[in-house]
Amino acid sequence: MSLAADDPLAPFEAAVNYHDWTPSNDGAQVISADMFAAARTSIADWPNYAPTPLYQLPALARRTGIAEVMFKDEGPRFGLKSFKALGGAYAVQALLAEHRGEAETGAENITVTCATDGNHGRSVAWGAQTFGCACVIFIHAEVSEGRARAIEAYGARVVRVDGNYDDSVHAAASAAEENGWYVISDTSYEGYMEVPKRVMAGYGVIAAEIIAEIGDAPPPTHTFLQGGVGGFAGAMAEAFHQHWGDGAPRMIMVEPELAACLYRSAEAGRMTEIPVDEETLMAGLSCGVPSVVAWDILAARAGGFMTIPESMVAPAMQLMANPLDGDPSIEAGESAIAGLAGFVAGTRKTEIKQAIDLGAESRVLLIGTEGATDPDVYAALLAQSG
Ligand SMILES: Cc1ncc(COP(=O)(O)O)c(C=O)c1O
Repeated sequence: MSLAADDPLAPFEAAVNYHDWTPSNDGAQVISADMFAAARTSIADWPNYAPTPLYQLPALARRTGIAEVMFKDEGPRFGLKSFKALGGAYAVQALLAEHRGEAETGAENITVTCATDGNHGRSVAWGAQTFGCACVIFIHAEVSEGRARAIEAYGARVVRVDGNYDDSVHAAASAAEENGWYVISDTSYEGYMEVPKRVMAGYGVIAAEIIAEIGDAPPPTHTFLQGGVGGFAGAMAEAFHQHWGDGAPRMIMVEPELAACLYRSAEAGRMTEIPVDEETLMAGLSCGVPSVVAWDILAARAGGFMTIPESMVAPAMQLMANPLDGDPSIEAGESAIAGLAGFVAGTRKTEIKQAIDLGAESRVLLIGTEGATDPDVYAALLAQSG
C-alpha cells in the first residue's frame, strides 16, 4: 500500500473548482436583526431546545497547517438530525400565529405543504404536528425511502413525483394553488419571499449560538459553508455580518460539482439556473435554482465559491467518524461535510490558499448541517473503501 493510501487527507488532493469573489457589501439587509431576534425568541421556547455543540478539531488544524478548526454539529438538533429543524418548523409556527383566532382558517383547517429532498420536509412535518395543522410533503424520484418514512413518522402525507427536486417544487406549488394550502418553502422566488425569509431567520439560531460561544474571543477568519439553494449560508453570512461587521469571517461557498447553481451564478455574475441531470450523493445540496433572497445576500457577503467532486464525500464522512488523533468523533451525513471537504481540499492547493489568504494564522469555522439523516445511506458510505 502506498503512503498516500494511508493518508486520510489524500482524497482531498483531487481537483476542485474555485471562483474568486469580492463581496460588494452593498446589498440591503434582506433579513433584519429583528427577524432574527423574533425567531430566536420563539425557538428558544420550544420544548427540549438546547444549543448544539461547537467542537475544536486541533489535530485537523495541525495537519492542514492552520491555527484552529471549529466544527458545529447540527446532528442533535431537536432530534430531527439536521439544522433544517429550525427553519421550516419556525415558518409553520409563524404562519399559524398569523391565522390564530380566525374562525374559518384556524390551525385545524390549515394545510401546509412543501417540496423537499428530505430535511426541510421533515422540519415542516414536525412543525405541523407540533403546532397542530395538516401537512402534505412532495418528494422527487430519487429521495430515499428512509427519508420518506422519517417524514411520515411526523404524521404528514408524502407524495412522490417523477423528476428531480425542481419538479417537486412545481408539484407542491400547483397542489397548493388547487387546494388552498400554504407553501412553506425554504427557497424564494419573485413574488414569494416572506416565508423563506422566516425559514432563514430560524437558521439564524445557529449563528447566534456560535456568536454567544465565541464571546469576546476573535471571530473565525474563514468559514466554508455548503450550499443547496443558498438559504443556510445566506442566513449565516447575514447574521455574522450583523454581529461582526467587517470582522466577519470570509465565507467560501462549497457545492457539489453536480449541482453548482451558486458557483455558476458567481461565474455569470448574476443569479443563474442550471439543469441537475445527475443526483449528487449530497442529497440536500442537489439544487439547480438559487434562492433569490439568498443570492442577494451571497453576492454582497461571499468571499469565494468552490465545487467539490463526489469522490470526496465518503472520505470526508469517514474523517469525521474516525478522526485524526485526539479529535472528537462526529456523525456527519452526506450533505454535512461539503464545507469540510472544500476546506481540506483548499489547504492542499496553493492557488486557493493564496486567493483566500488561508494560512498558519487562520481560524476556520465549519458547520456540520446534518447527522445520519438516512442511517442506511450513512452506513453504506462509511463502509466504502477508498
Ligand atoms: C444537510 C443540509 N445541509 C445543507 C443544506 C443546504 O441548505 P440551502 O438549500 O439552504 O443552501 C441542506 C438543504 O437541504 C441540507 O439538507
